[in-house]
Amino acid sequence: MSTPDVTGTGRRAKLSVPELRAAKRARRLVMVTAYDYSMARQAEQAGVDLILVGDSLGMVVLGYDSTVPVTLDDILHHTRAVVRGAPATHVVADMPFLTYQVDEARAVENAGRLMQEGGADAVKLEGGRAVADRVRAIVAAGIPVMGHVGLTPQSAASLGGFRVQGRDVESASAVLSGAEAVADAGAYAVVVEAVPTDLAALISERIGVPTIGIGAGAACDGQILIAHDLLGLEDRVSPRFAKRYADLGGATRAAFAAFAGEVREGIFPDAAHSYAAKPDVVAALRRGTGEAG
Ligand code: KIV
Repeated sequence: MSTPDVTGTGRRAKLSVPELRAAKRARRLVMVTAYDYSMARQAEQAGVDLILVGDSLGMVVLGYDSTVPVTLDDILHHTRAVVRGAPATHVVADMPFLTYQVDEARAVENAGRLMQEGGADAVKLEGGRAVADRVRAIVAAGIPVMGHVGLTPQSAASLGGFRVQGRDVESASAVLSGAEAVADAGAYAVVVEAVPTDLAALISERIGVPTIGIGAGAACDGQILIAHDLLGLEDRVSPRFAKRYADLGGATRAAFAAFAGEVREGIFPDAAHSYAAKPDVVAALRRGTGEAG
């Protein structure tokens, strides 16, 4: 059954996993992160193909210094809101740190919760060869998995920070073989983060499913950016790949400051933003309190 057109974009159904796989080399996929209902609505109305409820929410929404503190409950809460805002868009929920690493049973169970309780269409998890068996087990349970290789923020402590990966032969070959391993394990797409363009091009050539690049150059099959980066809402961390398409941070500050100024000067609220009472109601009230009506 197809999803009704609630988007106003003419697209009637959210993209399915087979349709996303088939997009490889046919057209570029567009993915953004969103963490709440209103942002998800805007993304859907703009016609993006996929939304990621990324654990980046720990940094850009919850104010942590890394994605490590994010819990499954955090992602569940935000995924439900995003799914309500974007019912006709393919929504991927990120699996947080330690929700898939510990053992296979917990990985499958947690991935299942993101679909069953969160309403996600798929899950994403970070890592290469080391997580291939987890990807295989989750896929075998009927849950679509998106991989994530290159810079994997949950392992930033082991990687020495948020650094470009795959700059030498050893590291580049680990990223490449990791992408191949998760694709072979059944991932239907793979995010490739912060690697040199030529390495991402080679990965895109070698694996049969779409690559979604972030800081990985133009040869990927799709691109993703963090909403707060592209909207100009995040000013703490600014990697060079995070192109700004708007200055909502500046616009937000200006709007808050304008509101504050008008309140302090007694300009807001004016008659146009207030409700008038019927004169006889006020007169009756004044009489009731002993005042002249
Ligand atoms: O959490 C996130 O937003 C991500 C993107 C950087 C791909 O994983």
